[in-house]
Amino acid sequence: MEHSIALVTGATSGLGHAAARLLAGEGWHEIIVTGRSLARAREAAAQLAAETKKRIFTPLALELDTPTSVQSALAELVKQGRPIDFLLLNAGMVPFKKRVITAAGVEASQAPLIGHHQLTVGLLKANLLSPNARIVIAGAEPARGGVPFFKYTDVPAFADKYHQGDQTAAVEAIIRNGPNVRYVPNNAYADAKLIIAWWTAALARRLPSGMAVYAVSPGAATDTKVVRSAGPLLKYLFIPIANLIPGMNQTPETAARRYLQAAEFGTDVSGQFFASAQGKFSGPIEAQLHPHFHDGANQESAWQAVVNVSGVDFPMQHPLARRPEGQPDRG
Ligand SMILES: NC(=O)c1ccc[n+]([C@@H]2O[C@H](COP(=O)([O-])OP(=O)(O)OC[C@H]3O[C@@H](n4cnc5c(N)ncnc54)[C@H](OP(=O)(O)O)[C@@H]3O)[C@@H](O)[C@H]2O)c1
Repeated sequence: MEHSIALVTGATSGLGHAAARLLAGEGWHEIIVTGRSLARAREAAAQLAAETKKRIFTPLALELDTPTSVQSALAELVKQGRPIDFLLLNAGMVPFKKRVITAAGVEASQAPLIGHHQLTVGLLKANLLSPNARIVIAGAEPARGGVPFFKYTDVPAFADKYHQGDQTAAVEAIIRNGPNVRYVPNNAYADAKLIIAWWTAALARRLPSGMAVYAVSPGAATDTKVVRSAGPLLKYLFIPIANLIPGMNQTPETAARRYLQAAEFGTDVSGQFFASAQGKFSGPIEAQLHPHFHDGANQESAWQAVVNVSGVDFPMQHPLARRPEGQPDRG
């Protein structure tokens, strides 16, 4: 992969900010940093320039909850016309105690994936990802289960109970926090990160052959603003207790370094979810082998649900997409 142009979403604080700083240290030529408004992105770019003494940060407004903002960001990138080598889809949040649904009808912690999907597909269609581009999207350990206070939905069981076995409809209901979905903020977060892992696997099947995508959990780094909207139980009980346990917390830099590490992985592991070892929230990352991540039906249902909600598709037969094994190049 060329170390030329990177784009980091959610660079106004925490891990996105730390990742942008690390990329500068690794000699990237230009780092596009996004914030919900141009003013916030400019502020982040100026702060990063001051911290690194490098004038390589380009601010970009990107509010992932709002499709028109994603469209404007894409239009700006098309205008700049420079292909991106590393697309770091970092923005995300542990949702509010009280349920928040965006104007586009999406539960707040699911909204970043919808915006990231619109952005990624828009860049692919505009030929604005370089041939060997790497895409990394932020995942989290709760997607695999076994994290106290966080429980993901058993999608096949939920689909059977309320959607006549239609898993796409079930995932869409979860994304919208629609009928029959009980809102529990931490569980919504676990679901959001699980759907991200499935979406990643489905996107990998659609990417041109030189490109790769990975979901990567940065691991626990509580010195960011990630739980600012969360309820008191998580903020004032779970996190302070977790911080007392050795290995339960890392600096934002250590966590963000995982994204950069994954960006160097090969196409052979494209589509996989990398996170801490089982039972851990820090240390080395490894591919997650839990069967629910590798269920092709779940992955494709999640993709289709994201397509339905976002209104944007990148089909497998798209001229840019990787050809299925053994099929001739249509030129
Ligand atoms: N920190 C951890 O322990 C941890 C663990 C596992 C995974 N993660 C994941 O790592 C990523 C970064 O988290 P962090 O810890 O750095 O949190 P953070 O300090 O809150 O930073 C999150 C960034 O994402 C932006 N953002 C969130 N929702 C957005 C939206 N809808 N549209 C545009 N921007 C949005 C935020 O902008 P605003 O400030 O304007 O909201 C902020 O710039 C998240 O995806 C999180 O789920 C974090």
